[in-house]
Amino acid sequence: MAVKAKKPLVDVAKLTKAQAKIEHVRLSLEIEAHNERYYQKDAPTVSDAAYDALRQRLVAIEAKFPDLVSKDSPTQKVGAAPARGFAKVQHAVPMLSLGNAFSDEDVTEFVDRIRRFLKLDADHIPALVAEPKIDGLSLSLRYEDGELVRAATRGDGFTGEDVTANVRTIKDIPHTLKGRNIPAACEMRGEVYMLKKDFLELNKKQAEAEDTVFANPRNSAAGSLRQKDVSITASRPLKFFAYTWGEMSERPADTQHGMLEWMDKAGFVVNPRTELCKNVDDVLKFYSRIGEERATLGYDIDGVVYKVDRLDWQDRLGFVSRSPRWAIAHKFAAEQATTILNGIDIQVGRTGALTPVARLEPVTVGGVVVSNATLHNEDYIKGIGNDGNPIRDGVDLRIGDTVVVQRAGDVIPQVVSVVMDKRPKNAKPYKFPDVCPVCGSHAVREEDEAVRRCTGALICPAQATERLKHFVSRLAFDIDGLGDKQIQEFYEEGLVMSPVDIFTLQKRDARSTSKLMQREGYGETSVRNLFNAIDARRSIDLHRLIFALGIRHVGEGNAKLLARHYHTIDHFREAMLAAAKGTKDDENTTEAYQDLNNIGGIGEIVAEAVVEFFAEPRNVKALGELLGEIEVKAAERPRKSSPVSDKTVVFTGSLTKFTRDEAKAVAERLGAKVAGSVSKKTDYVVAGEDAGSKLTKARELGVAVLTEDEWLALIGE
Ligand code: IVH
Repeated sequence: MAVKAKKPLVDVAKLTKAQAKIEHVRLSLEIEAHNERYYQKDAPTVSDAAYDALRQRLVAIEAKFPDLVSKDSPTQKVGAAPARGFAKVQHAVPMLSLGNAFSDEDVTEFVDRIRRFLKLDADHIPALVAEPKIDGLSLSLRYEDGELVRAATRGDGFTGEDVTANVRTIKDIPHTLKGRNIPAACEMRGEVYMLKKDFLELNKKQAEAEDTVFANPRNSAAGSLRQKDVSITASRPLKFFAYTWGEMSERPADTQHGMLEWMDKAGFVVNPRTELCKNVDDVLKFYSRIGEERATLGYDIDGVVYKVDRLDWQDRLGFVSRSPRWAIAHKFAAEQATTILNGIDIQVGRTGALTPVARLEPVTVGGVVVSNATLHNEDYIKGIGNDGNPIRDGVDLRIGDTVVVQRAGDVIPQVVSVVMDKRPKNAKPYKFPDVCPVCGSHAVREEDEAVRRCTGALICPAQATERLKHFVSRLAFDIDGLGDKQIQEFYEEGLVMSPVDIFTLQKRDARSTSKLMQREGYGETSVRNLFNAIDARRSIDLHRLIFALGIRHVGEGNAKLLARHYHTIDHFREAMLAAAKGTKDDENTTEAYQDLNNIGGIGEIVAEAVVEFFAEPRNVKALGELLGEIEVKAAERPRKSSPVSDKTVVFTGSLTKFTRDEAKAVAERLGAKVAGSVSKKTDYVVAGEDAGSKLTKARELGVAVLTEDEWLALIGE
């Protein structure tokens, strides 16, 4: 299967306007997606260095073609909009971001810019406060008459999330400000972070409890702060450094260092490594000293921040787009070390993705011993895919290679490059397995997909619990009393290893000496109820069974299309087995495959995924065993003359005559398509009580709006 490698990037200086425009859109989307994962989900997928590289390129493109800058460009925004779930807080003074310096020259240029802007003569060199740049998440704390009244995250810089209750559990944050000189209204800002040792300990506990394991201390701090259950935040070792402010009814000092001294007296923790520097030489010395101490600080920092000390100068300098002219972040290069690639292991994730992991000769990188590194996917080993990670431009990784590894703010290290002079003579290119190392099923890659996946959906132990949970879920077999927890428990004890085991559980339990009802948490009634619930599903709709199989890309909608087309399980199974004999790449593509591919709504990707499932004999065997225990109802064929066949319907508001699921099932049986949102393509909107924006949209677009009764009359029920 042809897999496209990412094209090398064209030098920005050589980009034509048209190329720049396309790349601007692509980069903006990519950066926005990373922002969302970083700020809202606390789960970034690229290193900070890779993210910075994307931003730098966008900045360079906008510098060359300034009319590409719009207010929606990521260069004009900070962070991402607040996530749902917390009340929103409008920041009285926006929480902006900092410009970056990556070299000594960038820092000199920053100071020169300030001097030009303020028109300072040669004798006037602005003093700068240098502070470690903490890698955590920023927080704004509002105090009124010295009392903490509100705490908010940064969000998109203008609107953040209200995390007051969570923040009250952080020991470093005073509830009442100390001393005299307390402004009536004052917003203190700083960074919530977690010590590296606390992060490692928390992750250990999380792993033991099979709960979320965080990628780095920053995510761990963010994830811990943004908990709906405040007692969870309280149990997490969060810390806080104060370093700036928002709204202030009066300023207790007229310099940055004076303000920090005041913050300290008011009861905040101010970073003790902060220093007042006279000139560029001093700040650069500070930078290299902190760089050397970085590993021993106990918390992650990703650079140093320089701020003009005089506040009247800060005021005059003001802001440019998203960052102040009076401050800059001098970033550290990623920490690197050289070591040997001893091996490559393949891990199989819960969804069947094969992920290669580098086994490294242990080496210390930035104070942390590194012995594993993610290799992302097959292309990454070949050096052709980058996915925002360090690019090795076609240099592949071979076992025995001497490699450079780096930690860029993340705990998960990366392999950046190969020391080619040290490549052993007999080193062979790595052959990525095309079978799953866990279950032996064939593993396939879809076109344009970097990930190779195991096809043994029904039989692979690495995927088993996830598949079983899916199998019993609401839109699949929907078995009461058999939830995620029970599936996990039954799997671990060997009671339910594959779908058929659910239906033989009762028989086996009857023969067993350690019966279900004797276990903790189970009584006679609950076991009886469970067996009854299982029995109730021995007769199942075809589309539910197809959906339950967990075939990639086959969601509820596609399962229904397949069920309607093939009508019975026997017909479906036979047709799929026939289709599996030849795929689109074969010369003699089978008729069955063509037929599958021709079903309206079923594209090639779905067709191939179904075929791959049936090409794995052990999936077919597992399905056969299951069918020995259950009866599959034939799908109803849509009534040909239904007035709603091929029409698109949206149900909205609260329905009183039928449930949403019923309405959907009836409409689909009559050949209608049920959509979730209103567009020009919608034929009918059925509006229940309190219908909101969908109804408004339908009216705007002139889409026919029906009451529940009118809908029933239309379908003749
Ligand atoms: S000052 C107007 N000082 O870095 C901007 N920020 O990239 C005021 N940060 O959003 C920010 N340590 O989350 C400042 N000593 C420090 C900092 C610091 C970490 C973070 C903060 C900010 C981001 C900007």
